[in-house]
Amino acid sequence: MCGIVGYLGSNGAYEILIQGLKRLEYRGYDSAGVALVTCDGSLNVHKARGKVANLEQTAAAGCTEGSLGIAHTRWATHGEPNDINAHPHVSQSGEIALVHNGTIENYSVLKEALTEHGYSFKSETDTEVLVQLIDYIKHTSSCTLVEAVREALLQVEGAYAVAVVEKGDPDTLVVARKSSPLVIGVGEGETFIASDATPIIGYTDKVIYLKDNEIAVIRRNEPLSIVSIDSNAPSEIDIQKLKLSLAQLEKGGYDTFMLKEIFEQPSTLRDCLRGRITDDCSRVVLSGVELNKERFLKAERITLCIRGTSWHAALIGKRLIQDFCQIPVEVEYASEFRYGNPVLNEKDIVISISQSGETADTLAAIQLAKEKGAFVYGVCNVVGASIPRATDSGTYIHVGPEIGVASTKAFTGQVTVLTLFALAVGQLRGAIDADTVREVATALKAMPEIIEETLKCDPEVQTLSRIFTYAHNFLYLGRGYNYPTALEGALKLKEISYIHAEGYPAAEMKHGPIALIDHEMPSVIIAPSDSLYDKIISNVQQVKSRGGAVVAIVSKGNTAMNDIADFCIEIPSVPECLTPLVASIPLQLLAYYIAVGKGKDVDQPRNLAKSVTVE
Ligand code: AGP
Ligand code: GLU
Repeated sequence: MCGIVGYLGSNGAYEILIQGLKRLEYRGYDSAGVALVTCDGSLNVHKARGKVANLEQTAAAGCTEGSLGIAHTRWATHGEPNDINAHPHVSQSGEIALVHNGTIENYSVLKEALTEHGYSFKSETDTEVLVQLIDYIKHTSSCTLVEAVREALLQVEGAYAVAVVEKGDPDTLVVARKSSPLVIGVGEGETFIASDATPIIGYTDKVIYLKDNEIAVIRRNEPLSIVSIDSNAPSEIDIQKLKLSLAQLEKGGYDTFMLKEIFEQPSTLRDCLRGRITDDCSRVVLSGVELNKERFLKAERITLCIRGTSWHAALIGKRLIQDFCQIPVEVEYASEFRYGNPVLNEKDIVISISQSGETADTLAAIQLAKEKGAFVYGVCNVVGASIPRATDSGTYIHVGPEIGVASTKAFTGQVTVLTLFALAVGQLRGAIDADTVREVATALKAMPEIIEETLKCDPEVQTLSRIFTYAHNFLYLGRGYNYPTALEGALKLKEISYIHAEGYPAAEMKHGPIALIDHEMPSVIIAPSDSLYDKIISNVQQVKSRGGAVVAIVSKGNTAMNDIADFCIEIPSVPECLTPLVASIPLQLLAYYIAVGKGKDVDQPRNLAKSVTVE
């Protein structure tokens, strides 16, 4: 899940690469590095542990000239984050430099063979093995760089997006991909390459999404060529128009991307809902469902296959689909599903949910499901990413780029699309009555305004958060539709404040976690006025009797909790199935302000990366 970027053109590469790395830092920030080839062919490499700002300091002391270069921001998989393990890696001959996103699974076998051929290794990375292999092939078979890269990739098992340059050749950049993403930006007399399109915006809106098993050669003043790694046969060059704008990638006056993204939710949900509910709220129209009616009519089971926050959205989706479509639903971690020998056939629908559209396990699960004959439906944010391209059909959540590593607006977008999906399929199968569709669709259509209203709790949550920066543990409890909301609230707190937090179904608490409760362990209880409200009141009393502080998220006007909980945060009343959307807002804010109060970097929490393109 590292980020790679490259440039070949008539301008200085260094600044373009550094700005590109800053846009890709969300993918990893363990270390950063750059390799530049000057016009007389010398190769200069700069690397530094930590963020891109450290690299800028290190590079300032050396040569940053050249109009060809490659750069990398790392999320370590093999070898600790330090200067030596940072990319670019340079071959033993000092001639070839390479950046890599992915993992080389057979690196130890290759390393052994190369060691026998006299190669020694400086780093602990899998990546260095690849650059040495290219070097070995190039020197033993006296071939061109691109031939050596292709030959080496044929020997490699695993996932990669790579960019390679060579000392003495300021005119050639070679890139290739398998399982990890790579985009090529086609400008006037200049070409950009990057893990996603964000470093390219502002320079050109013409992009090519390199496909799996393709290798591209970018040569100065020559047309781009793309061939298959396996067969060396030329591939079709499909130039697409990019729809992202620079403004979408900036903080827009907020201190952090995360806060901007939390406050953007009224407008992102408006974009997500646009054109999908009829004016009279009697019907939901999702083209991905409409165009595949037969598959949805004959479906006997739906399996949601995902990771992380998307898994929490899927648990809410399970309830929605069961309630509205009357189809059995299973929710699986993609990482377990892919190795679990799942029993699937053509009457199965597999739904894969992913903000980035690049999560490695989710992609592998899709491939497996397709091999077994299932119909795969994608719910993604990043347009044109690998997952939406690999699925049979799907719906974009259209919430715009999410840059904060902790997901907020993508989560509410996913839950919104799953609600639309459950309504659309329920209608198609005649499993839901017209009144329910109208009631839920009307409330969903009003969701942007409802979220706007909910966000007014911001100052109250900010004040409340100060009381809790001391805590080392938190419990998040919810029931029914809001058990997954509790899981998501706990994950948000964990990932940005580093406070341990556990999400639990409220009624299960007394079967174990209640032992943890004392005056130092606060509980956040999601208790809107729904069908399980009375039950959850007794769960709150059980916590209070053990001396634990309680923050309750309650529906506006319901004062019954005021005397029991220590703090109540009110949210607008909505139909039960939509309560997770509304209740998530104060939970996002609570996690945010606790983390900020503890002085944490909320946009780039330690050890994490936005998109997990490795197993
Ligand atoms: C979200 O806050 C997380 N950092 C993470 O769990 C994320 O949801 C997960 O990696 C899945 O990513 P995806 O939606 O891009 O596939
Ligand atoms: N395996 C490489 C490393 O550890 C790249 C990691 C990645 O893409 O996440 O440096």
